[in-house]
Amino acid sequence: MTDKDAFVLANTVAVAPPLVPEITLRLAAEVVPLWQKTEEELAELGVPPPYWAFAWAGGQALARYILDCPEIAAGKQVLDIGSGSGLVAIAAARAGATSVLAADIDAFALAAIAINARTNDVRLDITGADLIGGPAGFDLILVGDLFYERPLAARLLAWLTPLSMPVLMGDPGRSYFPKAGVEKRAGYKVQTTRDLEDREICDTGVYALARD
Ligand SMILES: C[S@@+](CC[C@H](N)C(=O)[O-])C[C@H]1O[C@@H](n2cnc3c(N)ncnc32)[C@H](O)[C@@H]1O
Repeated sequence: MTDKDAFVLANTVAVAPPLVPEITLRLAAEVVPLWQKTEEELAELGVPPPYWAFAWAGGQALARYILDCPEIAAGKQVLDIGSGSGLVAIAAARAGATSVLAADIDAFALAAIAINARTNDVRLDITGADLIGGPAGFDLILVGDLFYERPLAARLLAWLTPLSMPVLMGDPGRSYFPKAGVEKRAGYKVQTTRDLEDREICDTGVYALARD
């Protein structure tokens, strides 16, 4: 077991996200202690906030949609970009994807994704490379809750827009989610916590990037 595996296991509990009860993830039991711990104890090492320790509303909605409409991912080579806990990638694997690459630039997320894949008995490929802007040989790209920062949103859209394969995005109305060029496919009320969001229920959509 690596130090990162040990950190993930020591700071999380096994729970099922409310909208996706069939998937069990290692998630923070309480938001504030882990966030503070990461900031205070690990800031010197340049460790980012532990996004991987939460099942974000956008990811929950996207995972729910894929599990309910498995034909979207079945038989496909799928990329889950910004995978965090691995929730969306695990849903795609459960839906019968031929392969799923879970990508996240946070090394702790990579440990969490591997642990969560094992717990849910699915096989994922996992990478810490920043794939945004690079070649994209996938049949389907999944984006769970990544429009929370302007530079990241801009890079993502500049990369995704010219690609030809379907792109599905789960988003609860983040500031930098595109206002045009998307088609809503489903809507969910996702239970979350006020420590993480400013509401307890997030109206969250699943959108396809519009293609001409
Ligand atoms: C808000 S979390 C969403 C996690 C997950 N998709 C979900 O919905 O629960 C955003 C994740 O994107 C990751 N991320 C940020 N920039 C990235 C990049 N350029 N490539 C891959 N992952 C990135 C972060 O490390 C974080 O784990």
